[in-house]
Amino acid sequence: MKDLVSIRDVEKRWATSIFKLADELDSKPAPRKLAGKVLSTLFFEPSTRTRLSFHTAAARLGISLLDIESVGDSSIVKGESLVDTIKIVDGYADCIVIRHPLEGSARLAADLAQHPVINAGDGGNQHPTQTLIDLYTMNRLKKKISGLHVSLVGDLKYARTMHSLLYGLAMFGAEITLVSPKELQMEKAILEEVKEKFGTKVRISNEMNFRDCDVLYVCRIQKERFADPYEAVRLQQEFRITLESLKGAKDDLIILHPLPKVDEIAPEVDRSEKVRYFEQARYGVPVRMAILSDVMG
Ligand code: CP
Repeated sequence: MKDLVSIRDVEKRWATSIFKLADELDSKPAPRKLAGKVLSTLFFEPSTRTRLSFHTAAARLGISLLDIESVGDSSIVKGESLVDTIKIVDGYADCIVIRHPLEGSARLAADLAQHPVINAGDGGNQHPTQTLIDLYTMNRLKKKISGLHVSLVGDLKYARTMHSLLYGLAMFGAEITLVSPKELQMEKAILEEVKEKFGTKVRISNEMNFRDCDVLYVCRIQKERFADPYEAVRLQQEFRITLESLKGAKDDLIILHPLPKVDEIAPEVDRSEKVRYFEQARYGVPVRMAILSDVMG
């Protein structure tokens, strides 16, 4: 695979090979076959996990980093275009990881660059490496994905993690329930797509009832993508995970979240043994090591 722009670029067999490689890379010292290669990380939006876990993954594989510390330090502030920036960085680096607020920006970069491009989030569209981490975590903790009952809760309209994950879960044969305020429901086109491609029937609900659920996957309301921030706060209050909302849930339910979390999960829930999102974030390193090994190898 040259580029990883969308989860639609991914086949189940390839994803499974990435999970296997991530297991190996997490359990023994990493090979240094990529020593001498250069990875550029271009982040035009803030990030903690994606940027730092790519940096850690690169360091463990012996890959050098070419990082713009902040957009303000680059010639973009002088008016240089994204197109020119990609062409220049492509001349310096062996692979580009890009996060940009515009949907389609990673695809544009992939079309322009000779070297592989990995999408680290393009607006509200896609976040395919996060989805591979999410699927890897489910598979590692539950020993399967097919047949798992997964509830996706929160902002299904604007969260790119949810758009990518719905497709990934459908590809692996999970049973999916979507729980969100009416105003933040998943776009119909994405539901039709997974129905047509994988035969997945997705349940839609606005009730915080997780009795049949094996995996509860929560995301924050994407306040930065709302015209009215007060509306975002109002909707968040209605769809908040508390210890009360988890009453009646299965003993072995696991709670995942791409993070950052803000107020959508009550702080006391962090102490529940169901919570696995910090572990999920740690798996970002072996999964991204496996992805870099594949696309740069
Ligand atoms: N999950 C995720 O993309 O986190 P960051 O925005 O911190 O990279």
